[in-house]
Amino acid sequence: MSAVAAKKTNNAALLAWIDEVVKLCQPERIYWCDGSQEEYDRLCREMVAAGTLIPLDDKKRPHCFLARSHASDVARVEDRTFICSKSKDEAGPTNNWADPAEMKATLKKLFAGAMKGRTLYVVPFSMGPLGSPIAHIGVQLTDSPYAVVNMRIMTRMGQKVLDRLHDGPFVPCLHSVGAPLAPGQKDVAWPCNETKYIVHFPEERAIWSYGSGYGGNALLGKKCFALRIASAMARDEGWLAEHMLILGVENPAGEKTYVAAAFPSACGKTNFAMMIPPKGFDGWKLWTVGDDIAWIKPGKDGRLHAINPEAGYFGVAPGTSMSTNPNAMRMLDRNGLFTNVALTDDGDVWWEGMDGDPPAHAVDWRGQDWTPESVNKGAHPNARFTVPAKECPSLDPAWEDPQGVPISAFIFGGRLSKTFPLVYQAFDWSHGVYLAATMGSEATAAAIGQAAIRRDPMAMLPFCGYNMADYWGHWLDFGRKVANAPSIFRVNWFRKDEHGRFIWPGYGENMRVLAWIVERARGRGHAVESPFGYMPRHHDLNWRGLDFSEETFRRLMEIDRDAGLAETQEQVAHFAQFGARLPKELELQRQLLAARLERGPAVWKMPR
Ligand code: OXD
Ligand code: MN
Repeated sequence: MSAVAAKKTNNAALLAWIDEVVKLCQPERIYWCDGSQEEYDRLCREMVAAGTLIPLDDKKRPHCFLARSHASDVARVEDRTFICSKSKDEAGPTNNWADPAEMKATLKKLFAGAMKGRTLYVVPFSMGPLGSPIAHIGVQLTDSPYAVVNMRIMTRMGQKVLDRLHDGPFVPCLHSVGAPLAPGQKDVAWPCNETKYIVHFPEERAIWSYGSGYGGNALLGKKCFALRIASAMARDEGWLAEHMLILGVENPAGEKTYVAAAFPSACGKTNFAMMIPPKGFDGWKLWTVGDDIAWIKPGKDGRLHAINPEAGYFGVAPGTSMSTNPNAMRMLDRNGLFTNVALTDDGDVWWEGMDGDPPAHAVDWRGQDWTPESVNKGAHPNARFTVPAKECPSLDPAWEDPQGVPISAFIFGGRLSKTFPLVYQAFDWSHGVYLAATMGSEATAAAIGQAAIRRDPMAMLPFCGYNMADYWGHWLDFGRKVANAPSIFRVNWFRKDEHGRFIWPGYGENMRVLAWIVERARGRGHAVESPFGYMPRHHDLNWRGLDFSEETFRRLMEIDRDAGLAETQEQVAHFAQFGARLPKELELQRQLLAARLERGPAVWKMPR
C-alpha cells in the first residue's frame, strides 16, 4: 500500500512520511480527507453505525451528535505530555522532558502495528485562513474518525489545503488511539489505550500522540500545534503564539478596537470572548474573533495583527447557560458535536448549570440512568461541545481576514480571591510582561488549608513548547521591536469580601472594565497611579445600569501593603526555578513593586 498511488499531492516529503507511517502502523487502508460536507456526513453515519455517535433529535438539535468517551479518556493528560527538545534545559523546569532519540524509540514500539484493522485518515489542515501570511499548515495522520470530524470543525481541512501546500512545509502530526483490531475483532465505541503519550519535538516541529481520542490529546491542531509547536516557531521567526481569546469592541461611534486576553483554563474565557454588553451600553457591540488561541505577527503598518488559527470552538459545556453565555447557547442549536454530556429522553443534551429544571430522567455521560437525585454528575465536568465558528452570533465579520485584526491591548487574568484589584494597567511593556509572567489562579493546598497561587504565566504553563524563561525573554524582546506595542492589563474578576462573597458581579458586567481598557489603549481614558499600576477611579468607569457604590469599588481596588509584599516574596521561588535563564528585567520589576509597596501606606486606597 503506497501513499504515492493515491496522488492527492506531489509533496514528496508528505508522501514519504505517509509511506513511513503506513509501514510502521500497518493500517488496513488509507483514506485522504477531502474536507467536504458529504464526507463529514458519511463519517458521522459510519460512527453512528459503530456506536461512537448518537444522533440527537433532528428538530431540537438539527444535525448534532453525542459521543461518550471511555471513562479513562476524558481530558488532556498533562503528566503524559512531553517536550522532547535536544536538551532538558531547552524544555525548562515547567515541562516534562525526555530525550528525543529515546522517546522516538519508545514511540516506535508503541506505534508499530497500532493501526492494524483500522483506516488511516490523512487530514491536511490549515491553522488560520488558507493562504494568510499568519497561517501555517499541518497534516494529521490518525486512525480516529472522531478526530477527523472534529478537525473538520476546528480547522480548515481537506484537499484545498493540499492544493495550497504544493511542496511547502507542514507540521507532521501523527495520532493513534492505540487500539489495533485483530482480524474479525469487534470494535468498541471509544477505542483508546491506557498508555498515553502526547509528544512534541519542537526542533523537528513534529507531534506524536498515542493512546487517547479526547480533545487536545487527539485534535492535534489545537494545543499541540497551535500552542506548543507554534510557540517554538514563533520564538524562532519573531511572532507570538498565545493562549488568548480575541475580541473586538465597537463603540457607538462605530470605532472598533481589538483586544487579546489570556486566562488560565476554567476562568470563563469562552464567556468573555462571546460577552454581550450589559445595560447602560446601548450602541456598543462586541465581536468574537477567537475564544482560545491567537497567532500574532507584526503587520506592515507596524501594529500587531492577530488571527484565530482555529475555525471552531471546543468549549466546556457544563456551566454554559443563557445567563452565563447566551451567544454560546445559541450557537449550539445546530451542527455541533457534544462529548460526555447527558442525553435526555427526548433526544436532547443536558449538562449541569444549563437553564431551567434538570430533566426528570436522562442518560449520563457514562451511559447510565440519571435522575436529579443521582449522586453522579449527568455531564462530565470536562464535557465539551465542538461547533463551527460560523454558528456564533457574535462572530466578527473580520474573523477570517487573512491580514488578521490589529491588537490594541493584552489582558491577563487569573482567579484570585484576595490581594489583587479588579483591573490595573502596566506602566510599560516590561512591567506588563512581569504582570503576565507572575499571573496565576488560586489552588487550595489542602494539606495546610491555605490558598496558594498556582502560577500560570501568560496562561501558557501547559502549552509553552520551550523554556518558560526564554519565552519571557522573547516577549521582552518582541515588545522592544514592534513600533506600537499594545498596552498590557491585569484583571481579576474573582476578589472576595470578608464573608467569602465575590465583590464583582462578573460576566457581562466585565464590559465596564473592558470599555475602560479600550479607552486607555487608545490613550484617552483617565487613571491614577497605584503601586500595582494605573487604575481607574470610580467615575472613570461607566456605571449606567448597574448599582455599584463607590465604597464597594474602592474596596475592590484597594492594595494591602503586607499582602502585596507577601506576593513579591512568593514570586522569588517562582522565578528561582529558572536560575540564570530568568531575564533580569523580571527580577528588577519584582523589586520595583516591593519598593513601591514599602514606601506606600499600609492600605493603598483609591482617591475619590
Ligand atoms: C482548553 C484549555 O481546553 O485551556 O482550552 O484547557
Ligand atoms: Mn484553552
